[in-house]
Amino acid sequence: MVSYKELGLVNTRKMFAKAVDGGYAIPAFNFNNMEQMQAIIMAAVETKSPVILQVSKGARNYANQTLLRYMAQGAVEYAKELGCAHPEIVLHLDHGDSFETCKSCIDMGFSSVMIDGSALPYDENVALTKKVVDYAHQFDVTVEGELGVLAGVEDEVAAEESHYTKPEEVIDFSTRTGCDSLAISIGTSHGAYKFNPEQCPRDPKPGRLVPPPLAFDVLDAVMEKLPGFPIVLHGSSSVPQEYVDMINKYGGKLPDAVGIPEEQLRKAAKSAVCKINIDSDSRLAFTAAVRKVFAEKPAEFDPRKYCGPARDLMTELYKHKIINVLGSDGKAE
Ligand code: G3H
Ligand code: 13P
Ligand code: ZN
Repeated sequence: MVSYKELGLVNTRKMFAKAVDGGYAIPAFNFNNMEQMQAIIMAAVETKSPVILQVSKGARNYANQTLLRYMAQGAVEYAKELGCAHPEIVLHLDHGDSFETCKSCIDMGFSSVMIDGSALPYDENVALTKKVVDYAHQFDVTVEGELGVLAGVEDEVAAEESHYTKPEEVIDFSTRTGCDSLAISIGTSHGAYKFNPEQCPRDPKPGRLVPPPLAFDVLDAVMEKLPGFPIVLHGSSSVPQEYVDMINKYGGKLPDAVGIPEEQLRKAAKSAVCKINIDSDSRLAFTAAVRKVFAEKPAEFDPRKYCGPARDLMTELYKHKIINVLGSDGKAE
């Protein structure tokens, strides 16, 4: 058993309370490799932002959870090396699918876990979330639950349709489970294709899809039921058109990729939404940069020569999100 406290990590409790009060959101960036982790930490240190390093089941399968944990421990030291005296870094399990997965992460030094029982019948979701909370809280690890279903792929769970969170359930859920934060469904979804062409009008000039607005009425109703309770938004990549265009220009094929407009995320960040999950935008930035190098320098075969530009572009992306979308710059103590 390793406590995250020994690794210099923090849980989300104080971070979220400050974010709700201050009208900003903490970035939760997924990472699967060294370049993403470096870019996240460089951006967080430069902007003086707290940050959540997020590890999905897919990341654990790809990179190994032990290595990822050591990378997060390394991230704390790296942040200090970059000049941050007291890094505020959370290591969080994204979409934990069982008690055992959550326990394994808690036991090896994660400071926060998500138990995603959103696909289960309501009472089973409550029971599973409570079981994880009871275990996690013994070690001062914070827990995110989820109510409502996002469309798209959540790890291996694919949902055809989204179901908005029912505001009438949130008091009962948070009281019975004791969870520290709640992920809700208000129209976001995972991946780079958040809406299909049937759901969106098309802007005639550039020919791009115009995404429908998020269900802010559902968010407002949840906040009315649970004043000040930390709310989480998954599926919050905005799928920047510049990256999609770059990928398509250099040989990729991402037709009709569309995300959540950043103004809507900015609006959400000013409310009780205090954690915003972003993964796909980083994948797009990475891919765009790598494709550009491959297209322009076909003789290049040193991975540092294409992973380096990818890391630079991701760092720019993360800084932009922190400063212009989430508003968490300058909020690290
Ligand atoms: O929940 C979705 C995240 O973007 C993680 O995706 O399961 O492909 O790592 P992944
Ligand atoms: P995106 O696919 O929109 O980046 O969402 C990531 C996410 O919600 C991770 O849990
Ligand atoms: Zn998610």
